[in-house]
Amino acid sequence: MSKILVTGGAGFIGSNFVRMMLAETDHQIINLDLLTYAGNLENLSDVEGRANYAFVRGDIVDARVMSAVFAEHQPEVVVHFAAESHVDRSVLDATAFVQTNVVGTQVLLDQSRHHGVRRFVHVSTDEVYGSLGATGLFTEDTPLQPNSPYSSSKAGSDLLVRAAVHTHDMDCVITRCSNNYGPFQFPEKLIPLMIANAREDTPLPVYGDGKNVRDWIHVDDHCRGIRRAMEDGATGEVYNFGGDAERENLFVVHEILRLVGKGEDLIRFVTDRPGHDRRYAMDSSKAKSQLGWSPSFTFESGLAQTVEWYLANQQWWERVRSGAYQDYYSRQYGGR
Ligand code: NAD
Ligand code: DAU
Repeated sequence: MSKILVTGGAGFIGSNFVRMMLAETDHQIINLDLLTYAGNLENLSDVEGRANYAFVRGDIVDARVMSAVFAEHQPEVVVHFAAESHVDRSVLDATAFVQTNVVGTQVLLDQSRHHGVRRFVHVSTDEVYGSLGATGLFTEDTPLQPNSPYSSSKAGSDLLVRAAVHTHDMDCVITRCSNNYGPFQFPEKLIPLMIANAREDTPLPVYGDGKNVRDWIHVDDHCRGIRRAMEDGATGEVYNFGGDAERENLFVVHEILRLVGKGEDLIRFVTDRPGHDRRYAMDSSKAKSQLGWSPSFTFESGLAQTVEWYLANQQWWERVRSGAYQDYYSRQYGGR
């Protein structure tokens, strides 16, 4: 049994990871999250009160607060999800991205070193590699060529983790994953946004020509990959995770309309995202051969399950969209 500090555990992937770890292991999980607009404790209401689960509200950028958290909880492992994660927001204002993704990661590395953390798992993204042409795949050796403020801040954090390994002999592993989808994803990202709009007969905004390609992976497959990297990844190594499921955005939107039972007349082509990366696709063969990992969902099975979840949990995304979910913290935790 280990004490694992999970940062960003109230977000989309973090909350799925916390739930999976509590269901499948007896590790002690400390969920550290600032609860920004993207952090939602309702995502984990089913595990509250578990003896091996604790939530701490805190900002990873605040070294004084982080020092107190590490001193109190003495984690052996850190799994670092906390980040500003949405590309479009980083185009509007990159400030929080540099603070949380770059400065916050360095604060966590420093605290981990000072408090004797055994292993630091840094959760990163395929976007650090930039954009692909019509062919080829990102491997762990692909040069870092991030194009957006978001991906640049993530690449910066990856390099700080690399430096911690080389300079301070820290035991760190970096995971880089393609586009996740599944339950509890904030409805600003393509798939949940399109499901919610289709459900409500609101136009579906497709950027540019809709032919940008993403490699879709179900969040459960990503979480299993992070766990395998945490358990058996080699120090200083990077592991790519992808869903072996490249799809054009327009294809994804058509599939969602079909599954929700709505017509293509809802599609609207809108102004393209500035600097929009054309294509991402992952070579996950290192994770497959060295960690014994492979994705279990096909895109078709995962998307059908996800659409079903959003249709069955309309209250969840309505509360998220209206901001009402943010009342939950004060109701649940009062002044703490
Ligand atoms: P998310 O936006 O849903 O969640 C981010 C979480 O971090 C939220 O709970 C938020 O409250 C918390 N947070 C933000 N700033 C914080 C701060 N200063 N201190 C403490 N907590 C803070 O993001 P996600 O989609 O779950 O992504 C999680 C991680 O995985 C990120 O590091 C992201 O870069 C990476 N990633 C995401 C994807 C994807 O497709 N979503 C793919 C690959 C990698
Ligand atoms: O590849 C991993 C990355 O995937 C993660 O690191 C990021 O945190 C995550 O947000 C995601 O980034 P993307 O920019 O690829 O995801 P997003 O859902 O924002 O967009 C997916 C594609 O859909 C992209 O080509 C832009 C397009 N899009 C998106 C939105 C929100 C639209 O056409 N219309 C939209 O309204």
